[in-house]
Amino acid sequence: MSEPDNALVFMQPTSEQDVTDLYLIAGGDDFEAAMSALPEAARAWAGRNGFSGAIGDARLLPAPDGGAVAVVGYGTPSQRSRARFTLAAGGQKLPEGCYRLVGHALSAAALEAECLGWLLSGYRFDRYRKAGRKAVGLVAPDGVDAARVEALAAAEALTRDLINTPAEDMGPADLQAAVAALALLHGAEMSATVGDALLEENFPLIHTVGRAASADRAPRLLDLRWGGEGPRLTLVGKGVCFDTGGLNLKPGGSMGLMKKDMGGAATVLGLAHMIMAQGWKVRLRVLIPAVENAVAGASFRPGDIFTARNGLTVEINNTDAEGRLVLADALALAAEETPDRIISMATLTGAARVAVGPDLAPFFTDDAALRAALPEGAARWADPVWELPFHAPYEAMIEPGIADLDNAPKGGFAGAITAALFLRRFAGGGAYTHFDVYGWNPSAAPGRPKGGAGMGARALFAALPEVLAL
Ligand code: BES
Ligand code: ZN
Ligand code: ZN
Repeated sequence: MSEPDNALVFMQPTSEQDVTDLYLIAGGDDFEAAMSALPEAARAWAGRNGFSGAIGDARLLPAPDGGAVAVVGYGTPSQRSRARFTLAAGGQKLPEGCYRLVGHALSAAALEAECLGWLLSGYRFDRYRKAGRKAVGLVAPDGVDAARVEALAAAEALTRDLINTPAEDMGPADLQAAVAALALLHGAEMSATVGDALLEENFPLIHTVGRAASADRAPRLLDLRWGGEGPRLTLVGKGVCFDTGGLNLKPGGSMGLMKKDMGGAATVLGLAHMIMAQGWKVRLRVLIPAVENAVAGASFRPGDIFTARNGLTVEINNTDAEGRLVLADALALAAEETPDRIISMATLTGAARVAVGPDLAPFFTDDAALRAALPEGAARWADPVWELPFHAPYEAMIEPGIADLDNAPKGGFAGAITAALFLRRFAGGGAYTHFDVYGWNPSAAPGRPKGGAGMGARALFAALPEVLAL
């Protein structure tokens, strides 16, 4: 978790004078009404300086008796439809200080999401270079559940830190340490099945994909459990700590970002943090197959056929389609205790990225209740998702003939769908949802710096309580 001094939390002012009143001002037709809340002097000054309430515009304005007030633009509805965090867009442009939101026209839910954006805009990945952090603090506004917003911010910071850390420092053993630290924080239990023990305990595909890595980076299955009552919720995250592609080596341009191939693991750990921090009455399990897809004499090969934990045989047609292999064994284990819900998250296919781009988290689901609840959950916490189909007629594409399954259908049609269908063969036939996430922001936006990014976790956090009847 983030160091305390890096924690993304609301500010508690030390004395009343330290706090600057902040107004979130809509643009367009709502501008005049929003501005009417300001002290007269500030309003006049804002007008002369051309402040129009545009998103990203922020000003410190004079107030009576030598004080100041701050305004941040909230934009017009059409501008807001193109932005995610509007308060954060202006907030980071204000001078250092402590701000208290006194004027806005937001619902409680929208206000919480905007506050989350503000906290997230304080995130820096500073493990390798200490960057000065601008201390632009926000007092928790009335009506905001500060603990919840802070839990979501901490979860996202955890996800980002894990993804941003280079593979050299985030190998399978490091990922295990991160899971152990999270377990310790929440009083959860964690076990790990490492190296040859994977064969003894029947996780052949996790072993196969990870066996070429050096001994200190041995493959493993991490298993965290938390909570003693309530529905069983099992999260499975792809933990490929680096994906070279294996013998079907990725070209340099495609390999460059593959430290993020444990983004699914990082994201389910973020979601697990939210759930545990909020004390949900669930029996939570998190399964992470953590491997490095390396090139060595021991690498698995195209044409090899392996038997997965659930007995299905898989023909390897591309060693770069390794995520579905390690997830197969983890999903099979998950399914053995028939939990109420299984959700996997994985940086599984380039095809998902081609389909929806880097912003949207595409998901596949057999779970009608979750399907119905996710769009609202996504809107609630500024975490957009988009459903893609488990299109059964494409099942034939993953059936090669000499084995039960093909890990990389030729032609590449519907690559995200065929990957999802492959996973579903291992998920036991119950309520299963799979997210094919990108895990990365290619360019900076307010509250969302370039680099590792959680996707889909907050949408799930909002949707699951209703679905699980918590
Ligand atoms: N980790 C990659 C998928 C990926 C690539 C996600 C780029 C996000 C950005 C995965 O292991 C992979 O290489 N998948 C292949 C599958 C193919 C060989 C069937 C892909 O998508 O090209
Ligand atoms: Zn791959
Ligand atoms: Zn991969």
